[in-house]
Amino acid sequence: MHILVTGGCGFIGSHFIRYSLAKYPDVKIINVDAMTYAAHPETAKYLETLAPGRYQLIQEDITSPKVADLIRSAAIDAIVNFAAETHVDRSILEPAIFVMTNIKGVENLLNAARKKGGIRFLQVSTDEVYGSLAPVDPKSIEASQLSPNSPYAASKAAADLLVLANNKTYAQDIVVTRCTNNFGPYQFPEKFVPLMIANAIEGLPIPVYGDGQQVRDWIYVDDHCSGIDLCLRKGVSGEVYNISSNNEQKNLDIAKTLLKMLGKPDSLLKFVGDRPGHDRRYGLDATKIRNDLGWKPEFSFEKGMEQTIAWYKSNEAWWRKLRGKAFYDYYAANYDVKFKTAAAGTNG
Ligand code: TYD
Repeated sequence: MHILVTGGCGFIGSHFIRYSLAKYPDVKIINVDAMTYAAHPETAKYLETLAPGRYQLIQEDITSPKVADLIRSAAIDAIVNFAAETHVDRSILEPAIFVMTNIKGVENLLNAARKKGGIRFLQVSTDEVYGSLAPVDPKSIEASQLSPNSPYAASKAAADLLVLANNKTYAQDIVVTRCTNNFGPYQFPEKFVPLMIANAIEGLPIPVYGDGQQVRDWIYVDDHCSGIDLCLRKGVSGEVYNISSNNEQKNLDIAKTLLKMLGKPDSLLKFVGDRPGHDRRYGLDATKIRNDLGWKPEFSFEKGMEQTIAWYKSNEAWWRKLRGKAFYDYYAANYDVKFKTAAAGTNG
């Protein structure tokens, strides 16, 4: 299979490329990535080393007509779209780029795939499109109503609907996967898990939004990749598949577990103002992918988290570079912490 992956220098996309190249000796991948803030140049370099001759990076934005041209001319069997603006807090501050990349970009890819014909389009989506569950609600199934609450979630829901509509209107070969919160190596340290690990290593406070009782459903990134791979190869066209390890946990509990695993005190936890429109609970029912496609996760939460912590501990240079001066200035201004040198991030 020859696959065009978009957003492959980001967190989940880069894992999917590694996973696919390792699992299938005949797979070839073209990675189209705009190399925005969320793509680390070192991630790009590391991907180049995995399978020379079977992997190629093209730096381009998915909204560009050049990507449509590339899809037309490339010898590919499928497109897997990871490219997206993904951080909810950023979407609250700057929704426009989310509409551009997450909706317009998908329209561009989808249209090009349809015109080419004979290729499958897999849209990587999120549990956030279902909106917030009450504690007593059953987990979301694929047929649950879409009820997005953040600009990010709304942009992903819009893209899902566009992709599904193309299947009905043009009989286009598409599959949508919706996954829960991922964690693992190479995740940008603005997200909760890597932020906590990196802050704990640096002795910085860990901001817990609101009362910390919000529930997220956590999955190790490799299990997400195996689910996508299965849906790509065996999923029924026009269908949506939820992917979940059935691991709902409260944010505060996750934070305490991580601190314990890192040997750091709970006193690092700092309750801060809540995120506007903060969804209380996500929980996904993944019965369909388990029963219809035979998928199951391989990683327990503990095993995945041990691997994740070990990676962040031995790759400090990777995430320190991403944090930069603005991050440390923000912590110095908003928390009671002092740095020996602001930009160095050395907590003194
Ligand atoms: P996040 O990793 O941003 O993922 P998402 O918003 O897509 O679920 O956040 C996970 C949860 O952690 C979410 O409920 C918000 C919360 N959170 C904090 O409490 N503090 C933080 O500093 C961050 C980034 C998130």
